[in-house]
Amino acid sequence: MVQPYKHEPFTDFTVEENRLAYLKALETVEGYLGQDYDLVIGGERIATDDKIISYNPANKEEVIGRVSKASQELAEKAMQAAVGAFKTWKKTKPEVRADVLFKAATIIRRRKHEFSALLTKEAGKPWREADADTAEAIDFLEYYGRQMLTVKDGVPVQSRPNEFNRYNYIPLGVGIIISPWNFPLAIMAGTTVAAIVAGNTVLLKPASTTPIVAAKFVEVMEEAGLPKGVLNFVPGSGAEVGDYLVDHKDTRFISFTGSRDVGLRIFERSSKLNPGQVWMKRLIAEMGGKDTIVVDSEADLELAAQSIAAGAFGFSGQKCSACSRAVIVEDVYDQVLNRVVELTNQLTVGDPTEQGTFMGPVNDNNAFKKIMEYIEIGKGEGKLMAGGEGDNSKGYFIKPTIIADLAPNARIMQEEIFGPVVGFTKAKDFTEAIEIANNTEYGLTGAVITTNRAHLEQAREDFHVGNLYFNRSCTGAIVGYQPFGGFNMSGTDSKAGGPDYLLLHMQAKTTSEMY
Ligand code: NAD
Ligand code: ALA
Repeated sequence: MVQPYKHEPFTDFTVEENRLAYLKALETVEGYLGQDYDLVIGGERIATDDKIISYNPANKEEVIGRVSKASQELAEKAMQAAVGAFKTWKKTKPEVRADVLFKAATIIRRRKHEFSALLTKEAGKPWREADADTAEAIDFLEYYGRQMLTVKDGVPVQSRPNEFNRYNYIPLGVGIIISPWNFPLAIMAGTTVAAIVAGNTVLLKPASTTPIVAAKFVEVMEEAGLPKGVLNFVPGSGAEVGDYLVDHKDTRFISFTGSRDVGLRIFERSSKLNPGQVWMKRLIAEMGGKDTIVVDSEADLELAAQSIAAGAFGFSGQKCSACSRAVIVEDVYDQVLNRVVELTNQLTVGDPTEQGTFMGPVNDNNAFKKIMEYIEIGKGEGKLMAGGEGDNSKGYFIKPTIIADLAPNARIMQEEIFGPVVGFTKAKDFTEAIEIANNTEYGLTGAVITTNRAHLEQAREDFHVGNLYFNRSCTGAIVGYQPFGGFNMSGTDSKAGGPDYLLLHMQAKTTSEMY
């Protein structure tokens, strides 16, 4: 009997045993740095001469590993493997498919710190952030396995005398999973296994800066008993392999998580009918955010400041859910801003392998350059209150940065920076604060800090985001507790880790029998 779902607890690193276990895991990972990883197509391992090299963003000389890079020919081979495997996988019992996920969760749980340590090295995640990423991956496996068991028999519909009607969900076909680098384990694994447990077969194209953790995850799925061809691993260039697979006539759906611009490109390309294609492709797209914390004049101001600092600078602001805008009612603006500056100046930035580090590096040199450019823009648009400096001599480090006194339409308040930069703006009252919060093309997360019940209810109705939080920060959704996904340019309104997510990977079939 499957136990009820409960989310994976976070590790308490003040416990000596846990601290030592993490240090040991870092050693384990260091022991296998620099290795080569193959493509996996129909269960066959294929090495190519062309490689994607994954570097440690905190130490750019250090190679985490080298992954074979798929060409269009190999992507085609993977597509045919997935088409072939779909014939049997779609008929495999849902219970058996769910069991693969449960076993994979167990394997990752046993090697939890190793996976987290790999995230520390490959993505620059400080211990707590890496631990949360691994916990979320486990949660997706446990949660989607259980969700499959709840939808496997369909939903009851009405029947009449001499007539028996059924309503069941069947899989779609071959899915392309395109994942980002910022949750290189959780989102990559979650989007992959949701598709698989629903009976589809997939081609997984991980982000090019974090392919090693994806390669390790593919090994786990094999160990858990996933049949050959169900999960094909095809790292490669977005423009080359990504476009090819998005356009492919045999692609039935695409599950994409990443930036707005790439999401829109996929949206457009996937809507074109290609010769031989007999369906309209489905797109599940989870895209960017420009997320706001609103602080009311009646509020716990210390909680407000703590929430802004944690939401803005956790994992260097590289979360789609990160707080990149603080909108403060004018009576308390200076007080909240000054306290956030104080808290920010206390944050440690440095090597994420060290336990005390709050903020590690940003993803790569492109991210570094883009964020530093935004900081320059911010200095012109508002007042630099903290941070503003970067150092890319060894790794890609940027100090947590606050830009104050911005106009609501300033670029810093409108464009996704995806780094440790938060903009502050003033509102004359709570209603105006919510208007400013809604004044972006995104609609992913938001938070409201207030002790005024009427204002909470006003925000519940009017603050247009997929994930709205009250009296806490706007990051850290938990699978099965706060299903995650946004409105408008933040995506296709899906909710990862929610009760209806699997259905996005399935289609409903009605059968009606007379007797
Ligand atoms: P990105 O859009 O640059 O890349 C995402 C993936 O798309 C990568 O695997 C990349 O190789 C691939 N890709 C690039 N070009 C492609 C193409 N032409 N065809 C197909 N695939 C292509 O995003 P990123 O920098 O990896 O991730 C950061 C972005 O992701 C941010 O905008 C962030 O807000 C967003 N994000 C959203 C969510 C969410 O749930 N809404 C979660 C995490 C990240
Ligand atoms: N699920 C992640 C969060 O909520 C993106 O922060």
